[in-house]
Amino acid sequence: MSRFGVLSLLLGLALVAAEYDYDGYRIYELRPANAEQGELLYKLSQQGYDFLNLRRLLGQSSRVIVSPDQLENFEKLLSEQQLSHSLINENLGATIAEEFAQRQVQRRLSPISGKGRLSTDRYYTHEEITNYINDLADRFPSRVFLKTVGWSYEKRELKTITITNGDRRANKKVIFMDGGFHAREWISPAAVLYVIEQLVEKFDENAELLKDYDWIVLPVANPDGYEYTQTGTLARLFRKTRQPYKLLGQTCYGADPNRNFDFHWNEEGASSNPCSDTFAGPQPFSEPETQVVRDILHTYADRGIMYLTIHSYGNYLLYPWGWTSELPETWQDLDDVARAGGDAIKEATGTDYEVGSSTNVLYIAAGASDDYAFYAGFNISITMELSGGGITGFDPPASKIDEFVTETWIGIRAMAEKVIEKY
Ligand SMILES: *[C@@H]1O[C@H](CO)[C@@H](O)[C@H](O)[C@H]1NC(C)=O
Ligand SMILES: [Zn+2]
Repeated sequence: MSRFGVLSLLLGLALVAAEYDYDGYRIYELRPANAEQGELLYKLSQQGYDFLNLRRLLGQSSRVIVSPDQLENFEKLLSEQQLSHSLINENLGATIAEEFAQRQVQRRLSPISGKGRLSTDRYYTHEEITNYINDLADRFPSRVFLKTVGWSYEKRELKTITITNGDRRANKKVIFMDGGFHAREWISPAAVLYVIEQLVEKFDENAELLKDYDWIVLPVANPDGYEYTQTGTLARLFRKTRQPYKLLGQTCYGADPNRNFDFHWNEEGASSNPCSDTFAGPQPFSEPETQVVRDILHTYADRGIMYLTIHSYGNYLLYPWGWTSELPETWQDLDDVARAGGDAIKEATGTDYEVGSSTNVLYIAAGASDDYAFYAGFNISITMELSGGGITGFDPPASKIDEFVTETWIGIRAMAEKVIEKY
C-alpha cells in the first residue's frame, strides 16, 4: 500500500472513531420536583454524569448526557426516584456530526477576507481572533494596545487587548473581561469579540465607557481547549484545558480552569479526579492559562473595578461567592451592577437572566476566577452565563450568533454604565 493509502486508511479510522464516540449517547432533560431531587442531580454531576447545564431549583430543568454504559443505571434511577424527565436527543453522535458538517460548509461560505471587521456569520479559530486583534492594533494605534501575557500549555500565544480612548491618561480605572475559559462554550469568544468591536470600531457611540476607564480583554483564555473542540465531532463537548494527567494508567486531559484558582481551591464543587469535567488540577494554578489570568488580575488589582468572565449557558449573572453560600459584605453593590445588566437585557429583548451569588442561584463551585478576582481586589466580579442554543446548549447555530452577541453587549454595556456611575 502506498504511503498515501496508509494515511487515508488511518484518517478513515480516525473519522470512524470520532463519529463512534457519542454514538448512542442520549440527552435527557430533568425537572426536579423537590429539594431532594435537586440534590440528587448535583450528586450525579459529581459521579461522572456530564451535565450540559445543572439547575437544581424547583421549576427549572437540567440537561444531562447519558452514555450507553450509563443508560441502564440511569433509567433505573429515573423510575426509582420518579424524576420527571424527557428524552431530548437519542443519538448525540449523529447530531454533533451533522452540526459539524454544516459548520464546514459555513466556513467555506464565509472565509476571512483578510483585513477588517469580523462578521457575526460564524465562529472563529483562536488564530483568526488573534489576527483580528493584531489588525485592530494596526488600524487604531492610538487607542488599541496589545500585550503578550503568556502561553498556553500547547504554546499558543495569549494576548490581551487594551482599549482606551486615546487621551494617553495613565492609571485609569480598569474593566477586565475574558472569554473562552471553557472550551466548548463557543459563543463566549464570539460575544467578547463583539464587545471589542463596539469599543474600538464604534468608539463614537461608546466614548463615555472609555473616558475614565480602560478595558482590558483576553478573548480566549483557554485556546488549546477551544481549538481542540474545533477538530472534530469527538472533541466538540470538551470543556477543560489540554494538559495531560494520568490516573491508573489512563490519560485524561486538562483541568477545569474555573476550579483551578487558589482561593478555597478544591473545596466543594470541584473534583480531584483528572477525568472529571470539574477537575481542580493537581494543585492551584497548575494550568498556565489560569496563571496568566491570575497575573493580569494582580497587575491591575489596584485600579481594577470590574472583572467580567463570559461563559455559557444558562442565562445567569453571577457574583461571589461561589465557594460558600454566604454573601460578601458588599453584595448589594455586586447585585446592583448585575441587576442593571439583567434589567437592560430584559427590556431590550425580553430574555430573562437570573441574578445572584453563584452558590445561591447555581451551585457551589470553589476555585473559580470570579471569586479570585473579587478576593484580589476587583470591587465588582461577575460571571455571565449566556443563553444556550442547539441541542447541547453549546451550539447556537451560526445564524443566531448575531442575536446572541448583540443581546450580550446590551447587558455588558449596562453593567459598565452602572459601574461608572458607582465608582
Ligand atoms: C472598592 O471596595 C473597597 C472595599 O469595600 C472600598 O474601600 C474601595 O473604596 C472601593 N473602590 C472604589 C474605587 O470605590
Ligand atoms: Zn463555562
